[in-house]
Amino acid sequence: MLAHLSVAVLSLLPTADALVRKDGVGRLPAMGWNSWNAFGCDVNSTKIMTAATEMIQLGLKDLGYQYVNIDDCWSVKGTRNATTHRIIPNPSTFPQGISGVAKQVHRLGLKIGIYSSAGETTCAGYPASLGYEKIDAAAFAEWGIDYLKYDNCGVPSNWTDQYNFCVPDGTSAQNPNGTCPTMTNPAPAGYNWATSKTHTRYTRMRDALLGAGRTILFSLCDWGNADVNTWANSTGNSWRMAGDISADWTRISEIANENSFKMNYVGFWGHPDPDMLEVGNGNLTIPENRAHFALWAIMKGPLIIGTALNTISTTHLDILKNKYLIQFHQDPVYGRSAHPYKWGYNPDWTFDPAHPAEYWSGPSSTLDGTLVLMYNSENQTATRTATWSEVPELKGGNAYQVTDAWSGKHLGCVKDSHSVQLESHDAAVLVVGHRC
Ligand SMILES: *[C@@H]1O[C@H](CO)[C@@H](O)[C@H](O)[C@H]1NC(C)=O
Ligand SMILES: *[C@@H]1O[C@H](CO)[C@@H](O)[C@H](O)[C@H]1NC(C)=O
Ligand SMILES: *[C@@H]1O[C@H](CO)[C@@H](O)[C@H](O)[C@H]1NC(C)=O
Ligand SMILES: *[C@@H]1O[C@H](CO)[C@@H](O)[C@H](O)[C@H]1NC(C)=O
Ligand SMILES: *[C@@H]1O[C@H](CO)[C@@H](O)[C@H](O)[C@H]1NC(C)=O
Ligand SMILES: *[C@@H]1O[C@H](CO)[C@@H](O)[C@H](O)[C@H]1NC(C)=O
Ligand SMILES: *[C@@H]1O[C@H](CO)[C@@H](O)[C@H](O)[C@H]1NC(C)=O
Repeated sequence: MLAHLSVAVLSLLPTADALVRKDGVGRLPAMGWNSWNAFGCDVNSTKIMTAATEMIQLGLKDLGYQYVNIDDCWSVKGTRNATTHRIIPNPSTFPQGISGVAKQVHRLGLKIGIYSSAGETTCAGYPASLGYEKIDAAAFAEWGIDYLKYDNCGVPSNWTDQYNFCVPDGTSAQNPNGTCPTMTNPAPAGYNWATSKTHTRYTRMRDALLGAGRTILFSLCDWGNADVNTWANSTGNSWRMAGDISADWTRISEIANENSFKMNYVGFWGHPDPDMLEVGNGNLTIPENRAHFALWAIMKGPLIIGTALNTISTTHLDILKNKYLIQFHQDPVYGRSAHPYKWGYNPDWTFDPAHPAEYWSGPSSTLDGTLVLMYNSENQTATRTATWSEVPELKGGNAYQVTDAWSGKHLGCVKDSHSVQLESHDAAVLVVGHRC
């Protein structure tokens, strides 16, 4: 019934409007867990149910984490059901099917997500949904799916776009100023990417999901291509603004830098997605884990945990459970994210994958104040200072009650500015409250 309402609503509205749904799904950025960064292709129903039960036992559900998402490799390779043309869940790794897992996840009061691609095959070579959008959306709805991550692999040559689009995704050596100097065949000035084949591939699935009789959050994953930020608000609830994350600081820093220029696209119902969290993975330092989570939370991207929850350390878990950052992220009054107010290490507006903007602020109804973040992009310990007169939300006052978001400690009435010594790649997060 909800989906029918959505179809009706959508067809009446101009395309600039987002996927607004009566039940509120997609208004705020999603929170949950996904199998890929933890297990890659080595996924099965046991691992999914372990993640689901841990989300409850570790207190993550109580903080708002609700989606348990199965990524690539859940199906039988190379074939669809000859009668129904549906994708076939792998009977050995998902013996109760996807619907069986969905029932158990729902019984725990959680929601379940699945994965496909806007191509003929997924990134790992499994059947994907291009040309089968209605069949797959109907199957997902019948199985009880609540969330679809929709990737960009397996695109046949007759579905590739006429022009290339620059996603400045590489290292600083390749594009120090956010351009793609070696890219061939760019679109002419003024080209409308909402007329591209990429746009068609994703809107087909949007329409199939809206017609499927169940609310399914639509998580677009076209890696920032086809100028997705300019049209995705009317296509999906979130959209990847860059290529894949990995558990190393160089990559996380690159994405943070790139996304810092997309903050005007963040709002209710639409969220640029800097990709799933790597907290707990690889050899990131504790400061790096902290800064990663804090930046992802204040940019209001989806917070999708990507580590094995049955082996997570208390330190990593505490980062994922930071109540101040989660409250900022889930603000029901302010849809906008934090924005950089000063780059710090670099002059303002410098595109530098190794040194993203270091000073951020944003308003918060849930914290009843302003969130201020300071980041040290250098590879050595350094001091960073938040000066109240520089923070846009604080114009007019010179002394505020301040709380440190990592320790929860009240720092008292702080006059003019607050300085911190930060280890390499660490971030300080302050809640700047009432004037005093
Ligand atoms: C294909 O779908 C039919 C009808 O639902 C079902 O009876 C059959 O078992 C399915 N085959 C496979 C291989 O899943
Ligand atoms: C999933 O993998 C784990 C670890 O390899 C294994 O213990 C478990 O039995 C597997 N479950 C299924 C349903 O394949
Ligand atoms: C690509 O080819 C397939 C199969 O011939 C066809 O169904 C599809 O419509 C074509 N795509 C485009 C964008 O023309
Ligand atoms: C930097 O940007 C300018 C245009 O603003 C461009 O001409 C130049 O090629 C870019 N440099 C690199 C290395 O991308
Ligand atoms: C996306 O659409 C929603 C609903 O129409 C709107 O509230 C929001 O501001 C839009 N986001 C942006 C960044 O324009
Ligand atoms: C650990 O970090 C180093 C750089 O400090 C990097 O070269 C290496 O690949 C990382 N290892 C893993 C497992 O991420
Ligand atoms: C530290 O940063 C400097 C300046 O950005 C850079 O030249 C140097 O290679 C970095 N050292 C390490 C170990 O990353």
